[in-house]
Amino acid sequence: MLHDNYGINEKGHLTVGGADAVSLAEKYGTPLYILDTDEIRAKCREYKNAMREYLPEGSMPFFASKALSFVGIYRLINEEGLGSDIVSSGEMYTAMKAGFPMEKTCFHGNNKTDEDIENGLSAGVGYFVVDNTEELQALGEAACRRGVVQDILLRITPGIDPHTFAAVNTGRVDSKFGSPIATGAAESIVARALSTEGVRLCGYHCHIGSQIFEADPFLRAVGIMVDFAADIRNKYGFSPAILNLGGGFGVRYYDGQDEPDITGMIKLTGERLGEKCAERDIPAPVVFMEPGRSIVGAAGVTVYTVGSVKEIPGFRSYVSIDGGMPDDPRYALYASRYTALIANKADEPCTEEYTVAGRCCESGDLIGEGMRMQKAERGDKLAVLVTGAYNYSMASNYNRIPRPPIVTVSDGKDALAVKRESYEDLIRNEF
Ligand code: LLP
Repeated sequence: MLHDNYGINEKGHLTVGGADAVSLAEKYGTPLYILDTDEIRAKCREYKNAMREYLPEGSMPFFASKALSFVGIYRLINEEGLGSDIVSSGEMYTAMKAGFPMEKTCFHGNNKTDEDIENGLSAGVGYFVVDNTEELQALGEAACRRGVVQDILLRITPGIDPHTFAAVNTGRVDSKFGSPIATGAAESIVARALSTEGVRLCGYHCHIGSQIFEADPFLRAVGIMVDFAADIRNKYGFSPAILNLGGGFGVRYYDGQDEPDITGMIKLTGERLGEKCAERDIPAPVVFMEPGRSIVGAAGVTVYTVGSVKEIPGFRSYVSIDGGMPDDPRYALYASRYTALIANKADEPCTEEYTVAGRCCESGDLIGEGMRMQKAERGDKLAVLVTGAYNYSMASNYNRIPRPPIVTVSDGKDALAVKRESYEDLIRNEF
């Protein structure tokens, strides 16, 4: 069933990490985010082990917490020994509340404010991933005022199009992120960083995109980044200790889509790095990776209750659910395709094709179109699979709809990790 952590029990109900999704929906109400933490831990271990085996000593994964950020996830990630990528003072605050070791964080963002810079310096983040020269200067000055030297990586744009959709394609030359090699901006920010007081340049970062299924774009990134590093070394004498290759490994959302071989891709990346560094005669840097979606995606399932089932003869049938774009904006934003099923009829044949509509006052509020599933009736529990990444973290209160809770499942046992927002929560900052 798409991923090994999903199943069907003797009642014909969908199970997630061994727990009955229908019983959880009855216990906690809907919409409900279910998160299988055993699956998350397994993915963390796969990254850690593969990176330890195939990449230079000291190489490690940093969980990209933009994919899923709440206090409990930073605790789990820390228990598994991963670092974390944080992208705002809000993510930083959440990680600190979880007691996350801030020296194991990379602080991202194309527009860190002065406040972000101060927050990052006080928190003691491991590496600022500096995006641009204005940030470099502001960070250097702020560090000097504090009498500290901050470790940094520079965000470089290698100019790779990994053939994903434009909204998540961040490694091309025309990007709001980083300094492109092709225009000379990358070289000039390196030169500037080497002479900026208050910062210590430790290496480079690139992120080429998201939902990538083959090793090839990563191998090209390694080639381009090592060439860049060698050219810089020849000119300025600086060799990077760290190469951060960002995130982007894909996740299977529907049948027919591949499931990337994480270990295999890391092995190939290590081989290319070794060959390329030997060819250009530079020491192989430690590699950081920043997987987000591939760590938490398959761990998540969202369960809704079906309201109306409306057939428009000659057109289509709509199933309306008690959530929608506020808890999962990805179809509305990117037309991202999902798999859905009726969780309380998971063993029945998928005879119908539905457009799954949310409850917002907006026609674009859809979870998917042409979704094949079992026949739906009011009161059924409709589950959308692979919602662990970029759902809760992108959720909103549009139409004043409270955000759903997150229930974690481990070893078949459930626990509330984030409670459902109340109506009172919706107005808590309002006078
Ligand atoms: N590192 C950096 C610097 C990134 O910008 C990202 C994602 C990642 C790591 C993690 O990438 P992942 O392994 O999750 O693919 N909201 C979109 C995805 C945006 C990704 C942005 N950056 C979605 O829902 O598909």
